[in-house]
Amino acid sequence: MKIFLIVLDSLGAGALPDAAAFGDTGAHTLKSIAKSKKFQIPNLLKLGLGNIEGLEFLGAVPRPLASYGRAMERSMGKDTTVGHWELAGVVSQKPLPTFPEGFPEELLRRFTQETGYEVLCNKPYSGTEVIKDYGEESVRSGKLIVYTSADSVFQIAAHEEAVPLEELYEICRKARKLLAGDWGVGRVIARPFIGTPGNYTRTANRRDFSLEPPGETLLDRLTHRGISTVSVGKIADIFAGRGIGRSVPTHGNAEGMAAALQMAEEDFEGFVFVNLVDFDMLYGHRQDVEGYAAALSAFDAWLPGFLQKLQPEDQVIITADHGCDPGDGHTDHTREYIPVLHYGGEPVPLGTLPSFTAIGAWIEDRFLLEEAMKARKNAYAPYSGYRVGAALLTGEGRVFTGSNMENASYGATVCAERSAFAAAVSSGVRDFRAIAVAGGRGEKADPQASPCGICRQVMAEFCSKEFRILLGNEKNMKSYTLAELLPLSFDLEEK
Ligand code: THU
Repeated sequence: MKIFLIVLDSLGAGALPDAAAFGDTGAHTLKSIAKSKKFQIPNLLKLGLGNIEGLEFLGAVPRPLASYGRAMERSMGKDTTVGHWELAGVVSQKPLPTFPEGFPEELLRRFTQETGYEVLCNKPYSGTEVIKDYGEESVRSGKLIVYTSADSVFQIAAHEEAVPLEELYEICRKARKLLAGDWGVGRVIARPFIGTPGNYTRTANRRDFSLEPPGETLLDRLTHRGISTVSVGKIADIFAGRGIGRSVPTHGNAEGMAAALQMAEEDFEGFVFVNLVDFDMLYGHRQDVEGYAAALSAFDAWLPGFLQKLQPEDQVIITADHGCDPGDGHTDHTREYIPVLHYGGEPVPLGTLPSFTAIGAWIEDRFLLEEAMKARKNAYAPYSGYRVGAALLTGEGRVFTGSNMENASYGATVCAERSAFAAAVSSGVRDFRAIAVAGGRGEKADPQASPCGICRQVMAEFCSKEFRILLGNEKNMKSYTLAELLPLSFDLEEK
């Protein structure tokens, strides 16, 4: 099974209730671009984009092909990094710091101390203007051009002949170490340029040095469980490479879509995290409604061919990371809901999810259920023909699996759940978070199959009331707490 998480960078679905605090009252990226004649998105509408609350103006369909909803951002920010981190389970209490007045003297003093280089500029600046205005002086004096933008970035420009590339990258690594805590900018960016005074141009040797996510992410956890992870586009950058098995860098949406399509065709199992950056970088920030609409239409046109390549068990989530309303008169991101479309399961309304974290959590659960379905293949059930697989997730993020094992003396039968518990407990583990169970007589597990009373009792022995039980099959997954499945459980000890 593959799960694709496709982030349409900045495709907001309307202002969040707290948008005013971000200066974004009334922001609505999708509404702004829907006014364009270039806005043609029949396939996203078939999935149910217009069924999402707040997007009814797009046109709801009677039977959407995807589960549909929207999610609220809990992090105190509206940038790409914080948005993706939240999708992957990390909520940021503070936005990444920006420096509209330039970086503090103390920081620059330490920068010079660490690197041996003095700096010029130290202001927010356009990247092309900054080398025009400071390039010559930088080459002459040997000082580096340090500048920022409205984003949380520390950018260092230097002429490639004055500061060799490797040297510039090393300076950036030193700056990256320094830029932590209150100075923890999202990215340190090397901005090399070449040419002669009056004709300086930036080269393709830009390099980004990202801040590591401050907590364990979905990517870390999947990797820990042995599930392959692939980054398409700038995902690897956003997570500073952590938890990423393979990275496919791209230039723009067309390459990103081509890479996603190739992953769909490939014989691969695991998680593919895709970022399509053009919406934000080329159109949202530049207030280009027409360009934004055309880019979404191009994505829409690509979609059916991609979905056709999927195997029946594959899953696709299409969402965003924040807004960037191209029609709101300012170039910044906007504090918006993100749309959520999940294709590959039985379509249901998802409502309004209270945090982006729900998306990553669902993906993690779905992989656990996948392991239960795989364990089910090992079931030994010649007497009942009822085959069950279980996958038990420990507090540490390890997974133990089990399947049922019957016996000619029927009472000697062991259930799948208890065989998973026995495997874990006999390995010395007693801290559990969740169990996925897939059971039934058919080829596909029966989504109604649920743990027997004895297994529930065993769960109560080791697990808290919040321990989660995931039931389902390829198309269906439901999550329950132990308190729900075994209220008033018999227990000699309070847990
Ligand atoms: N079974 C389980 O593995 N788990 C449960 O919670 C319910 C029952 C198995 C035991 C037996 O092999 C078959 O299903 C029919 O009872």
